[in-house]
Amino acid sequence: MARLVIVSNRVPPPRAKGAASAGGLAVALQSFVSSGTLWFGWSGRVTERTPGKPKIVNGGGVTYATIDLGAEDYDRFYVGFANSSLWPLLHFRLGLMRYRREDFEGYLAVNAAFAEALIPMLRPDDMIWVHDYHLIPFADALRARGFTGRIGFFLHIPFVPPSVLDALPPARALMRSLCAYDVVGFQTRTHLQDFLDCARRFGGFAVEGEEVVTEGGRVRAIADPIGIDAPSFARVAARSAGTDYIRRLTESLTGRALAISAERLDYSKGLPNRFEGFARLLARFPQHHRTVSLLQIAARSREDVVEYQALRRELDRLAGDINGRFSQFDWVPLRYMTQTVARTKLAGLFRIARIGLVTPLRDGMNLVAKEFVAAQDPADPGVLVLSRFAGAAEELTEALLVNPYDPDEIAEAMNTALEMSLEERQERHAALRRAVFEVTAARYCNVFVEALAGEAGAGPPPAN
Ligand code: F6P
Repeated sequence: MARLVIVSNRVPPPRAKGAASAGGLAVALQSFVSSGTLWFGWSGRVTERTPGKPKIVNGGGVTYATIDLGAEDYDRFYVGFANSSLWPLLHFRLGLMRYRREDFEGYLAVNAAFAEALIPMLRPDDMIWVHDYHLIPFADALRARGFTGRIGFFLHIPFVPPSVLDALPPARALMRSLCAYDVVGFQTRTHLQDFLDCARRFGGFAVEGEEVVTEGGRVRAIADPIGIDAPSFARVAARSAGTDYIRRLTESLTGRALAISAERLDYSKGLPNRFEGFARLLARFPQHHRTVSLLQIAARSREDVVEYQALRRELDRLAGDINGRFSQFDWVPLRYMTQTVARTKLAGLFRIARIGLVTPLRDGMNLVAKEFVAAQDPADPGVLVLSRFAGAAEELTEALLVNPYDPDEIAEAMNTALEMSLEERQERHAALRRAVFEVTAARYCNVFVEALAGEAGAGPPPAN
């Protein structure tokens, strides 16, 4: 059987077999990072120069090969093109997009340097699965260095229609790079359709069904929603709910309902709109004063990107404003934390929450929505309030779906959730639970790898 090689910007730390792993991507890929897998990517460290050779560590039968980034490469590739151009663009935030040619050159150069470092470790029949927007030109870079095996790409974040992609100066180069893969995967059918439209418009390629016909072959596009290991998350949540940490929280609530939101501190997550929505709830529905507390966990992220610094200042101000306006001497409506909270603790927090508030302005999938559902006690479940612009909304139709741009809609959904009968909560949760337990992490991996294995290999020659 072909060896699976995973390539992603972030690589999880090596772990002992059976131990709980950290991030969403790591958890989702768990079933595939079995013995023999090679996982390659950035080490997360910034050094003076990007070195030529990766550092290799083995753990649980998996080989982890990571490479540091030189300071200038970090600025151009990670802070610059990936997170100041592509991230805002692909989240429909053109007003926040910054573009500099030298950043795009740095992005290409890091992809080339990563490919150069990986090539000596590859075997001809390896199957390579590349993840996310940092690495779109990676297949081009491998092909240019002679690799002819199968290469697939999965985009974890949204994709945009041609009218939005048009704003990116290297739109054409990027689309041609995406079409150098054998398989390209997206979270939803909407993103998939947008990709096909962009391949036609910017790549200049013909599209037949869900395949793009290039000079060198065919690219198969698939929609493959990512999921979680729901039974395992549900178990962790039930266990965590009995810990001291959760007991302390329950005591501090003194019988009040808990609404919870947890994510990275990112402008795509709609945090100011959500704060405003919560303020509207308190202003328009005063019966909920003293009966509910919102715990917002917004883990600091990408702090070298100026837009993230500005967002943090704005949230500090909004949180202070809400608590100043509505607090009573023995009740603080908004609890706002910017620290990272361990997944096991989060699972327990989700389980005891009455409302899960997941209202991104745009999101590829949003696994927090799925984790919230899995964590609930089916006998007394909380209610999920979900943005209809999260990929998860295509599957989680029994959530209270909202337009996150409208704070009144958020306030009304929170009010509905707080007043919802136990019977309706149970019915909605049963349907959501079925969806979350059906579209699992393992299924996501199987669908993608089967699609990749089914391809003949050797995509088109490098763009330009
Ligand atoms: O969801 C997109 C993503 O870039 C993931 O690949 C990553 O793990 C997460 O966001 C955190 O972002 P960063 O790697 O920039 O800290």
